[in-house]
Amino acid sequence: MNLLFLGLLPLVASQSVSDLYVDNAPSSPRPYIVPHYANSHAVTIGSQLYRFTVTGPSSDYAFTLMSTNAPYSGSLGVLPHIHRKHYENFFNFKGRFQLWAQYGEDEQQARLLTQGDYGSVPRNTTHTFQILDPDTEMVGVISPGGFEDLFYSLGTNYTSATNTPYVPQATNDSSASGPDPDGISGLESFDVYAQLSFEPRRDIANGSAPSDKGWHTDSASLGKPGKPYFIANNYGPKYLNSKHGAYQIVQPLVTSSQAQDTNFTLSTVIMSRQRASSSAPTWTAAGAIAFEVLEGSVQIQIGNYPAARLEMGDVAFVPPSVSYRYWTEGSYAKFLSVNAGRDGLDQRLIQAGKDWAYPTFPRY
Ligand SMILES: *[C@@H]1O[C@H](CO)[C@@H](O)[C@H](O)[C@H]1NC(C)=O
Ligand SMILES: *[C@@H]1O[C@H](CO)[C@@H](O)[C@H](O)[C@H]1NC(C)=O
Ligand SMILES: *[C@@H]1O[C@H](CO)[C@@H](O)[C@H](O)[C@H]1NC(C)=O
Ligand SMILES: *[C@@H]1O[C@H](CO)[C@@H](O)[C@H](O)[C@H]1NC(C)=O
Repeated sequence: MNLLFLGLLPLVASQSVSDLYVDNAPSSPRPYIVPHYANSHAVTIGSQLYRFTVTGPSSDYAFTLMSTNAPYSGSLGVLPHIHRKHYENFFNFKGRFQLWAQYGEDEQQARLLTQGDYGSVPRNTTHTFQILDPDTEMVGVISPGGFEDLFYSLGTNYTSATNTPYVPQATNDSSASGPDPDGISGLESFDVYAQLSFEPRRDIANGSAPSDKGWHTDSASLGKPGKPYFIANNYGPKYLNSKHGAYQIVQPLVTSSQAQDTNFTLSTVIMSRQRASSSAPTWTAAGAIAFEVLEGSVQIQIGNYPAARLEMGDVAFVPPSVSYRYWTEGSYAKFLSVNAGRDGLDQRLIQAGKDWAYPTFPRY
């Protein structure tokens, strides 16, 4: 019997759906939804606008979920650096950005990421990025949680009445890139170790870089533990789960073998419409989970709250041991699934699923 959960019941009983919606991730774990582009502890660094939809405090330090909206930049978005304790994940929500990653003396990897592409940056991997399109949004997942403190320290707190993705400004602004070298060198206390001798390779746009081979043409697998890797949208492994009144296609990006003791898993999930004859099952997990809608809309019902409808870019957070159900009323929906621990929702769907080769589900 889970006493913690029983203790929560009086709090969540007879809540209304509007109680789920917050503008900022809360200061301790509870069920919540942050709409896309809500202020959510936003800070600006130059022309980049960072929002933190799941924070250290809101997830009990399980993970941070953040987004970076920024315009084209002719220079790196941040100087090359490593994290010793944090596993960082880059997901392209929209637009284009380039991501570089190098582990030790291994060959330097670099990819141009378009919508739905993913880059994995385990601990001690030198990395940097550059934003390349006018309306680009990178989604970041960092485990363990709390990494947002770096951005609070570097950035300027920001709010907006219009929730504009980022602040329009002239692109010749010299502050368009990230922190300057002096700034980044003093950040070890935030687990940022500058790698100023790293020279980002510039030979990938024409396909001549060996590391770029097969990108967006060949199927990709998850990387070796501890090493960086990249998975283009819908080129990774896929599993079809048809057990819960809808088809769900899970595409893992990080499983526990990559995450190791950073203790999280990450996947995308494509869903078909819930069949009228069945209702979506109730789940609970030992770890915190977050949903971020990538396409379509997702209905989610958390604890005793009524169901809420998540649109593209909206984030829902479910604390450990709180029950939830989810489904879509549209023909197709896709969401990013962030899970604390080794056996989150994505792994359970995979375990009860079968190998599948397509990003679409069967006709019947
Ligand atoms: C900026 O926001 C953070 C949390 O979002 C808060 O802790 C901090 O006090 C704010 N700083 C200023 C200068 O208002
Ligand atoms: C990362 O590098 C630091 C410093 O060299 C080392 O102490 C730590 O064990 C490394 N972490 C991993 C996960 O390899
Ligand atoms: C590709 O780009 C690199 C770096 O700019 C350049 O050295 C190389 O000659 C180019 N290759 C082709 C085939 O254009
Ligand atoms: C990993 O995460 C799960 C779920 O949050 C938690 O129960 C477990 O104690 C964690 N394990 C470690 C080694 O931190």
